[in-house]
Amino acid sequence: MSSTDFLQAKAEGRKVSMVTCYDYTFARLLSKSPIDAVLVGDSAAMVMHGHSSTLAASVDLMRLHTEAVARGAASKFIVADMPFLSFRKGPAAALDAASALMIAGAHAVKLEGVDGHEDVVQQLVQSGIPVMGHVGLQPQSVHAYGGFRVQGQTSDSAQNIARQACALQQLGAFAVVLECVPARLAHEISASLRVPTIGIGAGAGCDGQILVLQDLLGINTDFRPKFARHFLDGARCVLDTLARFDEAVKTGTFPASEESYS
Ligand code: KIV
Repeated sequence: MSSTDFLQAKAEGRKVSMVTCYDYTFARLLSKSPIDAVLVGDSAAMVMHGHSSTLAASVDLMRLHTEAVARGAASKFIVADMPFLSFRKGPAAALDAASALMIAGAHAVKLEGVDGHEDVVQQLVQSGIPVMGHVGLQPQSVHAYGGFRVQGQTSDSAQNIARQACALQQLGAFAVVLECVPARLAHEISASLRVPTIGIGAGAGCDGQILVLQDLLGINTDFRPKFARHFLDGARCVLDTLARFDEAVKTGTFPASEESYS
C-alpha cells in the first residue's frame, strides 16, 4: 500500500485496515498479516512507556519506535505520528521533525488538527511527505478538553470537525483520522470527502478503521474505551502461559532433556 492506494481504495469502495505498532517483534508479525498499514502512534508514550497522555512523546522517542517498526515491517506502509508541538514551532522545525521520522523509515506522517498550522501541512505535502490528518478527539489537546472526551456532539463542534477534515483534504492530506466522534457525523464527513477517513471510535461509516494493537489483542488491561473491541483475550492467554512456565520451572519439568545441550 502507498499513500495513493488510500485514494484508490476509497474510489473502489475497499475499507482500509490499520493498527498501531511500536516495536520490532510485533512489526514482524504484522508484516505477515493482511493489515493494510501501520501507525507508529504517539500513543507509544502511554502504551509502551506508561504515561497518562501522549504529551510525553518526543521526536527522538518517535524516531526510535519508527526505526524498530521499519526494521520489522519494511513491506508495510508506515505512518509515524508527529508528536506534541513538533509541528507548532513553524515549518522549519516541523520539516526537521518530519525528516527525522521519514529517515527512520516512515512513509508518511500524521499530525493532529489543522487550524494554525495549515502552512506546515502544505509545506510537508509540497516537500513530498504524505500527510495523514487527525481530527475529532485530538489526544495532544487532552488538557484543553479537560479529559479524553467524545467530540462533535454539539452542532458547532460537529461543523468545526467537518470543516477541519475538509481543510486537510484541500491542503493535500491523503487520509484523515476521525477519533471519537458520533457515528453519524463520521459518516457524513466520509461521504463528503474524496480522501478516505480512518475511524477510531467513529462508527462504521468511515472508509477504514484503526485500533491500538494492544487494545485489539486484549493485553492493555488499564484502558477499555467502548470502541476498543478485544479480538483476543490476550491478557488471559499471557497470564495462563506465564503460570504454565512458572509451574514447569517449579515442578522441574522445564527444561526437558531435548531442551538441554549435551
Ligand atoms: O497515537 C495513536 O495511537 C493514534 C490513533 C489513536 C489514531 O493517533
